[in-house]
Amino acid sequence: MIRSAIHLARREVTAVANKRMISTTNVANYELNKIAVVGLGSMGHGVAQLCASAGYNVVAVDLSQEVVDHSMGAIEGSVLKLAQKKAAKAGTDGKTEEEEARAALSRIETSTDVNAVADCDLVIEAIVENLPIKLEFFENLGKITKDDCILASNTSSFPITKMAEASGVAHRVCGIHYFNPVQLMKLVEVVSTEHTEADVTSAMVQFAKQTGKVPVTCGDTPGFIVNRLLVPYIAQGVAMLARGDASADDIDTAMRLGAGYPMGPITLSDYVGNDINLAVMEGWMEAEPNNPAFQIPEG
Ligand code: 3HC
Repeated sequence: MIRSAIHLARREVTAVANKRMISTTNVANYELNKIAVVGLGSMGHGVAQLCASAGYNVVAVDLSQEVVDHSMGAIEGSVLKLAQKKAAKAGTDGKTEEEEARAALSRIETSTDVNAVADCDLVIEAIVENLPIKLEFFENLGKITKDDCILASNTSSFPITKMAEASGVAHRVCGIHYFNPVQLMKLVEVVSTEHTEADVTSAMVQFAKQTGKVPVTCGDTPGFIVNRLLVPYIAQGVAMLARGDASADDIDTAMRLGAGYPMGPITLSDYVGNDINLAVMEGWMEAEPNNPAFQIPEG
């Protein structure tokens, strides 16, 4: 009897806490409460989930209602899965964790209209990896967002500087590069251009920490830190397979057991998307055709 009363009281306290659990990041002129994520593919929906789970109010935008619906289904599955795992680890019955997960879902509003970002404090762009489309998108963002809204791109490889210049508000543009699966990978790269205000970088570092990630900061160079090293490695693995040097299984096993990678390069290439890897390499080759590090291996 007493135990169930305590349990009930604890649940009520948690429910109230969940309602109140609104996160804020506050650095100089940048106060981040409401976050927009535009483009709800595998990266974007993960970022929307991450922000909502950390207590931010989120506007999740995609032009396609079908993509919006699919991504909300994926987010629900993922938050509930993570809640179950958290409960199993804590040895609880899982009710509180499920309530927290449902509270996170309730912090996400969706839209198919990009103008829904107009009152947001941070817009995270995760749309298609196509530079002309991103430039047009940033030009529009510069016009429709508030004067103190930070614009951040999750591009895998395109220059943040170009998007910043297209926006007309380059001082408040940066990169925020997440890793797949966003829900599980700890790292985030915060990328500054020569135009990025120091307070913008500081606000994004603080924001990344508030979402439970470990941020690293870097300049706007091709592939930033991780992809500059990782994508050529994946390409070499695929070329090795194409040449018939070893089987896919043996290449993957070699790198998992010989180098301690969680996935081998062939599995990882599929996981990230072969199209993404190729687009990254092609973009680099176009920008720096004489750089030997950026040559796509013949295989
Ligand atoms: N949400 C919630 N739970 C998830 C999940 C998600 N999105 N994805 C997986 N899980 C769960 C699984 O269901 C599983 O649950 P279980 O323990 O109950 O079975 C648990 O997480 C662990 O999953 P796995 O069994 O697959 O376990 P692993 O130990 O293999 O971990 C991994 C998975 C973290 C993906 C690991 O394999 C890994 O680190 N792989 C390398 C990934 C990587 O390198 N990513 C970076 C790619 S580069 C990039 O993204 C940049 C871009 O610009 C190209």
